[in-house]
Amino acid sequence: MKIFITGGAGYIGSHVSIQLLDAGHEVTVYDDLSLGFKENIDERAKFVNGSTLDLYHLKKSLSDNFDLVIHLAAYKAAGESMELPSIYSNNNINGSVNLINVMLEHGIKNLIFSSTAAVYGYPSYLPIDENHALNPINFYGYTKLVVENLIQWYAKLGKLNYVIFRFFNAAGYDANGRIKRVEQNPANLLPIIMETANKTRKKVEVYGDTYDTADGTGVRDYIHVSDLALAHEKAIDYLSEKNSNLITNLATGEGYSVLEIIKRVEDLISTKIIYDVVKKREGDPAVMIASSKIAYEELGWEPHFSRIDIILDSMWNIYKGF
Ligand SMILES: NC(=O)c1ccc[n+]([C@@H]2O[C@H](COP(=O)([O-])OP(=O)(O)OC[C@H]3O[C@@H](n4cnc5c(N)ncnc54)[C@H](O)[C@@H]3O)[C@@H](O)[C@H]2O)c1
Repeated sequence: MKIFITGGAGYIGSHVSIQLLDAGHEVTVYDDLSLGFKENIDERAKFVNGSTLDLYHLKKSLSDNFDLVIHLAAYKAAGESMELPSIYSNNNINGSVNLINVMLEHGIKNLIFSSTAAVYGYPSYLPIDENHALNPINFYGYTKLVVENLIQWYAKLGKLNYVIFRFFNAAGYDANGRIKRVEQNPANLLPIIMETANKTRKKVEVYGDTYDTADGTGVRDYIHVSDLALAHEKAIDYLSEKNSNLITNLATGEGYSVLEIIKRVEDLISTKIIYDVVKKREGDPAVMIASSKIAYEELGWEPHFSRIDIILDSMWNIYKGF
């Protein structure tokens, strides 16, 4: 199939591209390189340097008979989104509206959209499933929920077929070392621990140790990025075989606390990780874990790489070189 991937130079997009190229699909990456890296785009993919905010460029780039669009281009730092709502609404909402409207103009009906656990807000039960209430507590999550709603409306009007993925915490790197550059200024725990491990960062800040968890630190559900990539391949098959739509979590259902992860990295690299416990961040739930039953049942997907030791090994393999 001929596939257009926005944000394909980013962390998840570069892994998705590799997965789809390996499966024999034709891939065009559309990315403005605001956060992604050209070096991480597989050489078998075609690359177009462009923004979803550039309507003219988008129209021209999407005119080439694509079968399906995977939309990953967005800003994703929850804390920053609370400081810079106009930038987040413009990039994440306006960029998506542009993209979807241009898809329609060109008669492209199939869309896979990357949403987030942040659409749920505080969990009222665990593991979180897709019927859980949607009450985002940060602006980033709100932007994703707006786009989810828009996509569902367009589908109701017969204009789109979609798979919406709500990713939990993406982690890990390609086992074959095909990704060259790591994320800049990461806001997520695992890359921050890795930067502390390779001494490009002084220490990890642990946001609170008085949560209602075994060791008092927050517990999260980590999913290997190659398992997310595999889910995209399954979603392409789903959309091409069934005239149907799907919303599903992508998670493992298992959680690890901040201190557990730090301890595991210390064991892996045989060095102490320096950390400070600091104030809790507003809006951080104690535990976030999710069920992915819908993805298992409807897509025939299951995670293969998401054991925490595999995730951490694959990350250290790349971070130790920096
Ligand atoms: N990483 C996670 O744990 C996680 C969790 C939930 C959801 N997501 C979502 O998955 C998607 C990909 O995340 P990621 O971790 O790969 O982030 P990333 O920042 O590594 O990748 C995003 C890519 O999009 C590009 N981009 C941003 N705005 C653009 C625009 N307007 N036009 C064209 N390109 C643009 C950036 O240059 C970058 O290459 C995002 O939509 C994010 O919200 C990620």
